[in-house]
Order: sequence, then structure tokens, then C-alpha cells
Amino acid sequence: MPRIKHFHEPLDEKEALIDENCNDVEFVPNFKYQKRKRKFPAVTKLSKYLLLFFGSTVICLCIFYVTKPQLNDNFDPNISDKRKIRIYEDIIDAMRNRKKSGNFYIKRPETQHVDCGRILNGDKEYLQTVSNNNRIPLIKNSYLNMSCSSLQSRIQPEQFNFETFKSGSVAFARIVFEDYEFIEKQVQMSWHPDNVFCFVIDTKSSKEFKMNMKKLDDCFENIIVLPAEHSFDSSGHNQNLGHTECMQSLLQFENWTYLLLLQNHDVISKSVYELARIYEILGGANDVNIGAEIDQRRVPGLKWDAKNLKLFRNESGLDDELLKKPMKIASGYVQASLSRAAVEWLINTVDLTLFINQFDRTKYGGDEQLISSFQVNSQFEMPGHFTDECSKYRYGHDQISRMTQWSGGDVKRCASKTIRHGICLIGIEDFRAVSEMPVIMFNKMLPSFDYSIIDCTAELLFNRTFLNQTNIKMNEKYYEEMVTVIYHKDHKNPGYHLNCTPSHQYWKYENYL
Ligand SMILES: *[C@@H]1O[C@H](CO)[C@@H](O)[C@H](O)[C@H]1NC(C)=O
Ligand SMILES: *[C@@H]1O[C@H](CO)[C@@H](O)[C@H](O)[C@H]1NC(C)=O
Ligand SMILES: *[C@@H]1O[C@H](CO)[C@@H](O)[C@H](O)[C@H]1NC(C)=O
Ligand SMILES: *[C@@H]1O[C@H](CO)[C@@H](O)[C@H](O)[C@H]1NC(C)=O
Ligand SMILES: *[C@@H]1O[C@H](CO)[C@@H](O)[C@H](O)[C@H]1NC(C)=O
Ligand SMILES: *[C@@H]1O[C@H](CO)[C@@H](O)[C@H](O)[C@H]1NC(C)=O
Repeated sequence: MPRIKHFHEPLDEKEALIDENCNDVEFVPNFKYQKRKRKFPAVTKLSKYLLLFFGSTVICLCIFYVTKPQLNDNFDPNISDKRKIRIYEDIIDAMRNRKKSGNFYIKRPETQHVDCGRILNGDKEYLQTVSNNNRIPLIKNSYLNMSCSSLQSRIQPEQFNFETFKSGSVAFARIVFEDYEFIEKQVQMSWHPDNVFCFVIDTKSSKEFKMNMKKLDDCFENIIVLPAEHSFDSSGHNQNLGHTECMQSLLQFENWTYLLLLQNHDVISKSVYELARIYEILGGANDVNIGAEIDQRRVPGLKWDAKNLKLFRNESGLDDELLKKPMKIASGYVQASLSRAAVEWLINTVDLTLFINQFDRTKYGGDEQLISSFQVNSQFEMPGHFTDECSKYRYGHDQISRMTQWSGGDVKRCASKTIRHGICLIGIEDFRAVSEMPVIMFNKMLPSFDYSIIDCTAELLFNRTFLNQTNIKMNEKYYEEMVTVIYHKDHKNPGYHLNCTPSHQYWKYENYL
């Protein structure tokens, strides 16, 4: 497989959407935890009361059983929904009470018996009990309390204070289409009163999903769910549109210095303070994945110079060469970190309408040229830009905004031994990699495949944020040495020489397993 193709295709959330439509999934989720509808036979009045009596006794016993101090029993998948939810709420209550004496992260009922600490410490035997055939998917909570006060208590930890960011907060723009509870968890994991979140919803999402998302918008000042939905199809159409609408909307908030562009199943692996510190070190440089252009993505016959693209909102004072010379096109991931100045430039200095429209005419993967192309057209001077001079290298430069393990068709390359459309699904086996790698986001974790890795990552970030725990000290030097960071800092200095090879080793998934 040619390298560059391997790097960009097939694409990500697009695959997830394909799954929805075509059922074309390679993994078989562990269905034993999935809800089953049951029909009870008609019962007489007396037996109803008897049932009620015994039923409540069982419920009480269950509650006692589940909330008894160890809280380490498997969540019983065989009990009915209503009882499940009672138990769920009771666990939360019990844990809230316990929080008063000792602080800890509250996992879901499905995962609360999972000892993330043991996995983090490399206990391979224990890992077996929650991986492979014992993998734990999320059981959707159909009785989720969506009142603002409930939402807030799930997302904002009442008992902790947040420190203000010295260097500015972070904004997140995410295109979403499914798994509300997972999305809510992602907000909780990156929650800080000064961070801001923007979501764009797929038109085809379920009514329930849309209602829940709107609730997030209603209940939090720093969460925006755009009123306009778009059809995000399996080929990447409208992704750029959604993200740029979020950019525009997020600019109304002060104080954030970086924006992270995301898709539905991306999981951030750094705490809010770590993330803010990493962006402080980046110091205005964008972090964008850049690869050589994938040729078949340009619709023939279209023009790609600034003049024809009506790119600059104000062309006076710009020279002809800049306007008329075709811009370079690069291909790369949609996920990226952009400095606030870059976002302001993308919204206020240029008009992306035609560029986006022209690439939306591409059949597949048209969304993967926008950020990467502006990042390499240094003549346009988008703040935080880079150059195309390093793009012949595999990674172009070291990017940290998205970690994807491409399988190359070989399950041995995936710790979870599970591939979907060429990409390894991140499973609980990856927990140490998630905790140690310098990248800030993992793509992708599916709650229907393995919820342990998601909840353990949330616990890890909680421990770092609120309990001052660090299983591994963040390697700040890694970020300082990034080629893009040095370029951004120095390229205007006389005598600057671009060195496309950083002094550190690129991160490599295999090194962390
Ligand atoms: C759930 O019920 C099924 C069928 O009644 C049974 O085979 C299985 O062992 C039960 N599972 C648990 C964990 O009790
Ligand atoms: C988080 O902290 C708790 C309490 O110290 C500990 O038991 C748990 O193992 C930690 N989890 C992780 C993932 O570090
Ligand atoms: C949801 O939570 C709120 C308070 O957080 C409570 O007043 C309300 O009764 C709950 N709703 C349900 C259906 O349990
Ligand atoms: C922005 O930061 C300043 C200084 O820390 C603070 O006074 C102000 O309230 C912040 N604005 C917002 C909208 O958070
Ligand atoms: C356009 O740019 C020119 C030259 O930089 C400047 O003088 C002019 O005020 C700008 N026009 C607008 C409408 O911003
Ligand atoms: C964590 O560290 C901060 C500052 O160093 C301190 O104020 C806070 O009390 C610590 N929290 C815990 C739970 O140790």
C-alpha cells in the first residue's frame, strides 16, 4: 500500500457513518450487555402485589449489593431497565456521599468494577479480565436525567475549584451524530469554566440525540450547539462548513487561545491544564497534519488561485503574484489545533466559501484539504502557518492533534486486535499508550466497543486535574522541539535554517505498548 494513501484513507467518522448505513462493520460488539425488551404475561391483582413486594425486596437487596462498600461487582446485565436505572442513580448517590470523605472519579455502573490503576501499572493478568471476550460496552441509559441541575452535577465537579489558566483557555469544535452519553463524557473530561465547546449536529441524527444536545446548549453558557444542522455524509461533505461555522461562533468568547477541531469519537488524552500548557508551548504555531496532495481529490477544471477563489476579503494592497498564482494543495487530517489568530484570519481576513464549495464537489475526502492547504501556503501568512518544504516526509512534521493507528490489514498492529476500515479501534489494552504518548487526542474510541478505555481515560484525567496525580510527567521538551514550533518562533529571524527533522524521535504507537 502506498504510504500516503495509507496515511489518509480510509477516513474516520466517514467510516462510522458508512457503518450506520451499510452495516459494514468488522468488529462484533459484546452484545451480552445490550438491553432486551421483555414482555410480561398478564398477571392477576394479587400476584401483582406479590410481585411488587418481592420485586421491591429484590431491588433493595440489589441496591445493597451494588452499593456495598467494595463497589466492585459486575453490573448485572440481566436486570430490567427500570431497576437498572434505580441502581445507577443509587450508585451515584452512594458515591457522592463517599466523596465527602475521599475524592474520586465516579465511573458508570458498567465499568465501576474496573480497576484502571492496575491496568495503568501494567497488570497483564488483570487486563485479561476486562479485554477480549470480557470487553465492556456502554449500556445506554434510557432514563438519563436531563434537567440542568443533573447535567451540571454530572459535568462540573461540585467539590473542586478550578485554577484559572495563566496562558488562556481552549475551545473545542466537534461534529457529532451519535452516542450522546459519550459526548457528554467528553465535555466533562475537558470541562473548565473558561473552556468553550461548539457542536454541529448531523441532520440524520436521532431526535433524542438532538434534544439532548440542545439541552447542553440550554444549560451551559460555554457550550454552543449550532442551530443549523448539516448532512454529514460518508464522504466528508460539509465537515469544513460545520467546523468553520463553529469557528465563527466561538470567536464571540474571549480568552481562549487555541481551537481543537474534532469529530464524534475523538477522545482527548490530556487534562485541561496539560492541554493549556501544551498550547502555551506551541506559542501560536498551529498543529496540523500535512501530507502530499491526494491527486484524485481535485475536481478537474476548477481554479485554485486566491483571485478566482475570492479568497481575500480585501484585495487592495496585495500583490498580483500572491493573488494569481495557484495555491498549493496539501491533504491531511481534519482534526487540528489552530491558534486563535489563525481562526480569526480564517474567518475575518479570508472568505473560505468558494474553497469549501469547490472541495465539496469532490466525491470523497474533500474535507481533508482545507486546514492542511492553508497551513502550507506560507505566502498567505495565516498566523501560525508552516511551509510545504517538509511535506515529503511521512509525517510532514510531528503533529500531535490526532493519533490514529493504521492497521495495514494486520490485527497484530492493534492492541485491541480489532480493525475497522483500516483503523485500529482503541481498547482498554491501549490505556498505557493513552496515558504516556505526547499526542493530545486518540481517534477513535467507540463506546459500543469498549467503554473501559473511555472511563479509565476520564479517571486518569480526573486524577491529574483534581488529585494532582501524575503517572508520568509530561515531556514539555517534546513540544518545544517540534519543527513547527521552532519554525513559528524563528522563521523570520535572519539566518534561520529550516530543519525538517526534529531533535526528538517522532512518537510511535508501538513504543508505548
Ligand atoms: C442472564 O440470563 C441468561 C438467560 O436467562 C443466562 O444464561 C445468563 O447466565 C445470565 N447472566 C448473568 C450474568 O446472570
Ligand atoms: C485515580 O486515583 C484513585 C485514587 O487515588 C486510584 O485508586 C486510581 O487507581 C487512579 N486511577 C488512575 C487511572 O490513575
Ligand atoms: C432530575 O433531577 C432533578 C434534580 O437534579 C430532580 O428534581 C428531578 O426529579 C429528576 N427527574 C427525574 C425524572 O428523576
Ligand atoms: C477573560 O479573562 C479576564 C482576565 O482573566 C477576565 O477578567 C474575564 O472575565 C474573562 N472573560 C471571560 C468571558 O471569561
Ligand atoms: C483594505 O486594505 C487597504 C490596504 O491595506 C486599507 O487601506 C483599507 O482600509 C482596507 N479596506 C477595508 C474595507 O478594510
Ligand atoms: C493539588 O495541588 C494544588 C497546587 O499545587 C493544591 O492547591 C491542591 O490542594 C492540591 N490538591 C490535592 C487534592 O492534593
